[in-house]
Amino acid sequence: MDAHAPTLEKLVSLCKRRGFIFQSAEIYGGVTGLYDSGPLGTLMKENIRRLWKESLNHLEQEVVYIDGALIGPEALWKASGHISNFHDPMVDCMVCKHRYRADDISLDKPCPHCGNKQWTEVRDFNLMFTTQVGANTGQSTTAYLRPETAQVVFVNFKNVMSSSRVKIPFGIAQIGKAFRNEITPKQFLFRMREFEQMELEWFCKPSESNHFYAFWILQRMLFMRAIGITKERLRLHGHAPEELSHYSRGTSDIEYQYPFGWKELEGIAHRGDFDLTQHMQHSGKDLKVYDEETKESYTPHVIECSVGVDRLFLTLLCDAYYEDEIDGEIRTVLRLHPAVAPITVAILPLTKKQHDFAYPLYKKLKLADYSVEYDSSGSIGKRYRRQDEIGTPFCITVDFDSPADNTVTLRHRDSTKQERISLEDIPARLDALLKISFLEE
Ligand code: GAP
Repeated sequence: MDAHAPTLEKLVSLCKRRGFIFQSAEIYGGVTGLYDSGPLGTLMKENIRRLWKESLNHLEQEVVYIDGALIGPEALWKASGHISNFHDPMVDCMVCKHRYRADDISLDKPCPHCGNKQWTEVRDFNLMFTTQVGANTGQSTTAYLRPETAQVVFVNFKNVMSSSRVKIPFGIAQIGKAFRNEITPKQFLFRMREFEQMELEWFCKPSESNHFYAFWILQRMLFMRAIGITKERLRLHGHAPEELSHYSRGTSDIEYQYPFGWKELEGIAHRGDFDLTQHMQHSGKDLKVYDEETKESYTPHVIECSVGVDRLFLTLLCDAYYEDEIDGEIRTVLRLHPAVAPITVAILPLTKKQHDFAYPLYKKLKLADYSVEYDSSGSIGKRYRRQDEIGTPFCITVDFDSPADNTVTLRHRDSTKQERISLEDIPARLDALLKISFLEE
């Protein structure tokens, strides 16, 4: 394998060293599958959410947003099928008590942890976290932390239709946390116990559902390309009937070639009328829609696009990570799309003497809402390397000539080329750089 290729170890180390991602509660030993975002991770995740929304808003299709509760009553999760279906097969080693997902290992072979071959029965383990709502023991009721954001959309479908001016076909989108008590969280941000989802539920007439299923698969693939993910590391995987989830009539995954293999990045599912029908049956409420043309009521079909913020974040890091050789030295660089990069521009005074000129420039750009960093300590070479490593596409160096002629040096991360530009041209250059073109194919 190429010694300069990204590995999970390198990414985990970079994320910690530079303040993207920390193990949660690390000083107490941490909990597997729980992570916190540091300053750079927080900025980058904000960019991911903004771009996802932009990718929906630039289309003609109508999409509204909601922000639902994280905890849901047992009745909701019974209706959705999560209480009976949302489990993974689990098995324990009887000797060392190590626990595995039964589909992750071969039970014909010894335990990878202790080398013995004494397995318990395989049993189903429900992935939902339970909690109690209400202060009085005995009177409190069991509720669940949502394992997906989608159900909050379905139970609000009628509320949204009657309170907004939307008409079928339209989408309800939501960004928010989801929780799954994964048996073996692994591969850093790939499989976590607490993560964030960006989900679009697209409601349409049954007769148009196949058309929209194909439409959204294409749109989501175009989104991945527009935010800079390498085309050759993306592919589509259509699920065979036996792979489908309990709610799905058809699912296509956008897969990415991670350092640990091809895996799902985003799922696009044709959910048919499964969810609305289930919620109608269990709640007794009518969630049908009246069609003015046919004068009949019908249950809309749903096409779902679902991607994890954290998984997309990991994908972008894997895809952008390079180790280049420059002047005989290896530099680590994140070739993130400028609109994704946590810092757009770094202001670097060549020496402390340029502070009085450089600092107001930093403040001005910050007030104009650019993501800017000011760094005045250390050699200029070291400061460039640090910015390369966190993916900053532009460095502005203020030098001895800057105060005299109002010009600065603009350094490009990928080519390391430098050019001289005047202060007044900076915003226009940054704006051009930050533009994303959501391709239409
Ligand atoms: N509403 C459909 C649904 O939740 P899913 O395939 O279970 O479908 C959708 O999840 C997306 O959410 C995945 O493609 C992935 O991007 C993200 N995701 C799911 N489980 C995750 C986990 N344990 N950690 C991080 N991201 C996860």
